[in-house]
Amino acid sequence: NEVWAEPFKIKMVELLKVTSREDREKAIKEAGYNTFLLKSEDVYIDLLTDSGVGAMSDRQWAGMMMGDEAYAGSANFYRLEATVKQYYSYQYTVPTHQGRGAENILSQILIKDGDYVPGNMYFTTTRLHQELAGGKFVDVIIDEAHDPASTHPFKGNVDIAKLDKLVAEVGAEKIPYVCIATAVNMAGGQPISLGNLKELRVWADKHDIMIVHDMTRVAENAYFIQQREDGYREKSIAEIVHEICSLTDAATMSSKKDAMVNIGGFLAMNSEALYEKACNLVVVYEGLHTYGGMAGRDMEALAIGITESLQDAHIRARVGQVEYLGNRLIDRGVPIVRPIGGHAVFLDARAILPHIPQSQYPAQALASALYVDGGVRVMERGAVSAGRNKETGEEFMPKLELVRLTLPRRVYTQAHMDVVVESVCRVMENADKIKGLKFAYEPEYLRFFRGKFEEI
Ligand code: F0G
Repeated sequence: NEVWAEPFKIKMVELLKVTSREDREKAIKEAGYNTFLLKSEDVYIDLLTDSGVGAMSDRQWAGMMMGDEAYAGSANFYRLEATVKQYYSYQYTVPTHQGRGAENILSQILIKDGDYVPGNMYFTTTRLHQELAGGKFVDVIIDEAHDPASTHPFKGNVDIAKLDKLVAEVGAEKIPYVCIATAVNMAGGQPISLGNLKELRVWADKHDIMIVHDMTRVAENAYFIQQREDGYREKSIAEIVHEICSLTDAATMSSKKDAMVNIGGFLAMNSEALYEKACNLVVVYEGLHTYGGMAGRDMEALAIGITESLQDAHIRARVGQVEYLGNRLIDRGVPIVRPIGGHAVFLDARAILPHIPQSQYPAQALASALYVDGGVRVMERGAVSAGRNKETGEEFMPKLELVRLTLPRRVYTQAHMDVVVESVCRVMENADKIKGLKFAYEPEYLRFFRGKFEEI
């Protein structure tokens, strides 16, 4: 039984405020039972997201001092471009302010009105940009991904038969690309296997369809391949990541996750023609093609963060901490999505709150209750996040009604994880007192971010 520990030590800390239960009851009510609307200073342990909240290393901070803030041709851009080419294999890089900036540009270039965009489960911002560009998202992930109890080792895999069916129905010319996420967020941080990706490559070549890679958490996906897929046990994370990327044509990246910077992203590709189109649009929405909304210093920290994210010791400790939290919860009988994902532990809100129908948003209610109990902030990933069908206005009712406990990288200690476990168990013991919610205010786009609720 090998014991792992973090391959770093702590050099600077941020002090946290301790609040009372009364303070928190007031705060969540004011926030309309939406954890996105809480003030960060009222939160004790912040597991809302792993996005932009990682701790940068001393080397990344040193890189911040090396910012070349020239408007055009910053040295940091060229360093970033070379790093992407070396580790991720993509020939061209276009920086953007964050992941959704890249999604916007890519969707506008590749999708025509009436097109279909298959993907291994949706992500909120990705699907919205596909829709805004005139496309329709089609879920082609394997069925096991929608079952929180299935222990399939690669729940991020694509069901090729679903792709064949789509081609038979609409024709390959209506499918500009297949959107493949690594470490599928909405499925619970679940990986796609290299075997499946290779099959998909063959399929895509046969139909002359591109593969676009949402590579936001590719290093975490690579870790699961190393641990679970035959033939990869002796391969390094960097080698596996390179192989994954090489099987795809283009990528969108939110570098706020894997790469451990507070802000930034990029679009990367191998086609020069696609690069030329992306450069044309990036100047409209983001900035010149050599900074795209990022400061020079941020591009430097990103280039360094990419190399750190691919260290085997880093990723083992990172996913190891998520597994530690998940296993303690399993030990205590808490229903979570299995296998434990790469960036987060997902609670099965339907199982914890069987008395609340999905139309009353059990995951949203559970997220609020967790904050009130111990000051732990988490996120709803269920019906509220899924939103409404663009054409009919009906609410999507996804099979997965989850609460996400997302771990920032290099931020919290094991003792913090133990506090979270105790809080989840206390909330579960008193689950019957938790009430369902209804919308008091429902925004038009991405309603989970700014929606407000009332107790029923
Ligand atoms: N793709 C995936 C898989 C993501 O998880 C995210 C962001 C994005 C794209 C968009 O990137 O935020 O930089 O614009 N996910 C965050 C989360 C917000 O909390 O899961 P962005």
